[in-house]
Amino acid sequence: MHSYFFPVRNLYMTSSELEKTAKSLVQRGKGILAADESNGTMSRRLEAVGVKANEENRRLYRTSMFSTLGLEENVSGVILFDETIRQRMDDGTPIPNYLIERGIIPGIKVDTGAKPLAGHSGETVTEGLDGLRERCEEYYNMGARFAKWRAVITISKNLPSEASISANSHALARYASICQEQGLVPIIEPEVLMAGNHSIDDCARVTTTVLRAVYSECKTQGVKLSGTILKPNMVLPGSATQSASAKEVANTTSQVLIENVPGEVAGIAFLSGGQSDFDATNHLNMINQISNNHPWPVTFSYGRALLADALSLWASSQIDSAQSKLLHRSKMNGLASTGNWEAGLEE
Ligand code: G3H
Repeated sequence: MHSYFFPVRNLYMTSSELEKTAKSLVQRGKGILAADESNGTMSRRLEAVGVKANEENRRLYRTSMFSTLGLEENVSGVILFDETIRQRMDDGTPIPNYLIERGIIPGIKVDTGAKPLAGHSGETVTEGLDGLRERCEEYYNMGARFAKWRAVITISKNLPSEASISANSHALARYASICQEQGLVPIIEPEVLMAGNHSIDDCARVTTTVLRAVYSECKTQGVKLSGTILKPNMVLPGSATQSASAKEVANTTSQVLIENVPGEVAGIAFLSGGQSDFDATNHLNMINQISNNHPWPVTFSYGRALLADALSLWASSQIDSAQSKLLHRSKMNGLASTGNWEAGLEE
């Protein structure tokens, strides 16, 4: 029985389930669709393409995307937001049930957002630990089998502070251990933002520090790494002024991950973080091509890089084209996750 009243028994019962779920999420040729924008973010994205932001329009958009035929060929799981996991398809089927019927694992964003970090101007700490055990239990009973928590780290002349790295890493590890206790695979997402004019070396240094802090906290909290997925940023120069070749991005990213991510972690699923569709796919492909010695599968957990163009098409009532676009991006990133993508396939 799934109940938090028996945490030890529960942990024992779910550890093989956690590993099985984690492995399914990063199985060869597949990745994750991040459709978990908060209501605020989703509403801004709808308004930007001229659509009124309300609950029904958010449902119509998301259910159109989830109905894409063939999506399950390259998408192993979909991350939902609290509003979405409670919504239904047009025929009345609850969205998580519909995804399960399609062979797609439903996941859920469980953090409550990045809030200002007291005493540290320009930095945030992600909140949501209060009541998390009970929310995870409810989501599990609704069909969710994995969760996501996103911490945000900013690079500037004097940032990030030690306080921001420490508070966010601690929260990620506490979140991960609660999820595992409740049978959900935690996606651990410490995002070092692209915004800024820092160099690729700055990003490598900060990403290294953050990953070390995260895995040190996970060790302290007893997180079972084989039942977790890491959702990191790629190591990129700041978007404001710098650029780097795809090869440099791939080599640096691969090196930082090999040096700092324990081999027991079930898989790595990158965020796209504002990269263009092409760059997000090209970089993922090259990372998989240059390194045969990764101890974990390396795939995608993209939001914007899968959905941005599809949203614009959907907003202009081109539903079939929107679904084709999403399917195409999923296929391209599925190929990139095995190093078999080529630019010519984009035509
Ligand atoms: O938390 C971030 C999202 O799940 C991934 O979104 O690929 O647009 O960065 P993104």
